Amino acid sequence: MTIVLCGFMGCGKTTVGKIIAAELKMKFVDMDDYIEQKQGRKIKDIFSENGEDFFRDIEHEACKDLADAENTVIAAGGGALTFKRNVDAFKNKAKIVFIDTDFDTIKRRIGGDKNRPLMNDGAKELFEKRYPLYKAAADHTITAFGDVVPNEMAEKIIESYIR
Ligand code: S3P
Repeated sequence: MTIVLCGFMGCGKTTVGKIIAAELKMKFVDMDDYIEQKQGRKIKDIFSENGEDFFRDIEHEACKDLADAENTVIAAGGGALTFKRNVDAFKNKAKIVFIDTDFDTIKRRIGGDKNRPLMNDGAKELFEKRYPLYKAAADHTITAFGDVVPNEMAEKIIESYIR
């Protein structure tokens, strides 16, 4: 089985995904790392050198590649599952779980992160615009408002949706 974790930047996709993969002896792939390795440069440099549309196209290629993974937990990029073509790529191949975290918690965690080009003044608006898209993309939602311990989130996902 393949699990895709989606949700806004800073919701815990990578941290929780690694825990789930270790616990269930599955592979783990962070989509942003996958893209950075393929491109040989950082996400923030892809944005500044080629713009967001270019990034979205290579992100889509990454989704198509990763949809064929087996027994893998994938931490999606924060924007990936807000695009229908990417949701379609994973349909019938993976279970999509949305980690629903409140914006204040996210801001506290990654508010000043210079490596996330979209964590800027428009982030709150983006968060609100994306919320229904994550909900629609996901097979399941786990609510993780405030400082939920990553181990607990991972356990909840494993017990509710994987085992
Ligand atoms: C993005 C989120 C980032 C990364 C890129 C765009 C977004 O991933 O893919 O900066 O559109 O929200 P994380 O959610 O891992 O930070």
